[in-house]
Formats: sequence, C-alpha cells, structure tokens
Amino acid sequence: MTSSLVIPENWTFRNPDVAQHFNQHVREQLPWYDLATLAVAHFGRHYIPTGGCVYDIGASTGNVGLALQETLNQRKASFTAIEESQDMAARYQGPERLVVADAVTYGYEPFDFGVAFLVFMFLPVGQRIGFLERLISLTKPGGALIIVDKVQMPPGYVGTAFSRLTLQQKLAVGAQPEAILRKELSLAGYQRPLDPRMFPQSAKTFFQMGEFVGWIIEAPEK
Ligand SMILES: C[S@@+](CC[C@H](N)C(=O)[O-])C[C@H]1O[C@@H](n2cnc3c(N)ncnc32)[C@H](O)[C@@H]1O
Repeated sequence: MTSSLVIPENWTFRNPDVAQHFNQHVREQLPWYDLATLAVAHFGRHYIPTGGCVYDIGASTGNVGLALQETLNQRKASFTAIEESQDMAARYQGPERLVVADAVTYGYEPFDFGVAFLVFMFLPVGQRIGFLERLISLTKPGGALIIVDKVQMPPGYVGTAFSRLTLQQKLAVGAQPEAILRKELSLAGYQRPLDPRMFPQSAKTFFQMGEFVGWIIEAPEK
C-alpha cells in the first residue's frame, strides 16, 4: 500500500502529517533504506566500545537508534539522538535519549560513533564543511563517523542515468508517479545534494545506489 502523505508544496519536517507518514514514505522513496540501515548497525558493532558514546544526528523517528539498540545495550554505551523538528520528535521511537535541537550548533562530547543518515542534504550549504570538520575532530581515536547522503551527479549522460535510476526504483516499489513528481518539486531549495569533494581522503565509501552514497570516516589512531 502506498503512503497517504499529502506532500507539502515546500518540503519540511516541521509538519505533523510528514512526521506521521515518515516511516512508510521514506521506504517508498528510497527502496535501499533498510539495507543501508543494516550497514549502519554492522559498523556500530565494529566501532562502539564498551561504555562508548554514540550520536544519531538528524534522528527523525529513531531508525538509526533502533538499528543500534542491541549493540548499545550489549556495550552499555550512552546514546543521544538529535532532531530539530518537534513534529518528528513527537514520533520518535528510538532509544533514550532524544534532544530537540539544531544538530549543527549542538554541544557534542567527543564520541566513538556518530551517524548522520540522510541529513547533510538538508543543512545550509555554507554550514556543511565546517560541521563535517567539527564532527571529524570530535570522533575519538578508534571511532568512526558515518554519513549517508545524496550527492551531486557527474556531468554528462551518466549523471542522467543515475538520476533516472532513483525515479525507476521509486516506481518499482509502488510510489505513485504524481507523488514522486510532487516530492521532487517540493524539495526545491531545501534538499540540496552534497558536493562529494567536501569529504576528506580518509572517507571510505561503503554504499552507493545511484545518487545516494554512504561513507565511513575513521578517526586517526592518535
Ligand atoms: C531524511 S530525515 C533523516 C532520517 C533518519 N536519520 C533515519 O534514519 O530515518 C532528515 C531529518 O533531519 C532533521 N534535520 C534537518 N536539519 C537538522 C538540523 N539542523 N538539526 C537536527 N535535525 C535536523 C529533519 O528534521 C529530519 O527529521
């Protein structure tokens, strides 16, 4: 069954209807969402130490926290989810604790494992590099930062083919053509794909499906 979300003309997460339908909508829009989430859980098992500190940046309804729950429990790690939208926070079902705040200005403690899953594309372009550098500098030796996001496409025909892959995959899981189109236009000015050159050489790609990429950035072993 397809989501009955009414797409706002200008996309926002500060909307109770968007929040209510988020879990279904995101899977309809991004058929690889659960697969990439499983990869985050996998890396969590590799980088969260006993008593570690973990952040979920832009947590929405708690997908990342739920995926990490078992490791968090087993390692007795502290967990903080950060989400700026009250409407999304009201639907949060992940582990304690959730903080409603702007993730860019939030006062982080040094951490072992940080995840920003589909968030940077919604941050103002001018804040991205500084925020990324701050997160990298806060990652403890032995720890890692995970980013999954949408990137700008390469020029030429291959870029067109990548973008059409996203459309084709949405249709394949039953999203309605009109809803796909409305969502694309709704995102104008808010969702802006990342320039992949913002990532340091130490960032390793663990996932790519067309326009969407997952990176893991290990902290240096100082
Ligand atoms: C596509 S959703 C993220 C999905 C989520 N990480 C998951 O795994 O399902 C983007 C989320 O980032 C939040 N967000 C955007 N900008 C933010 C900011 N500056 N600080 C905190 N959260 C932010 C939005 O409110 C929204 O809930």
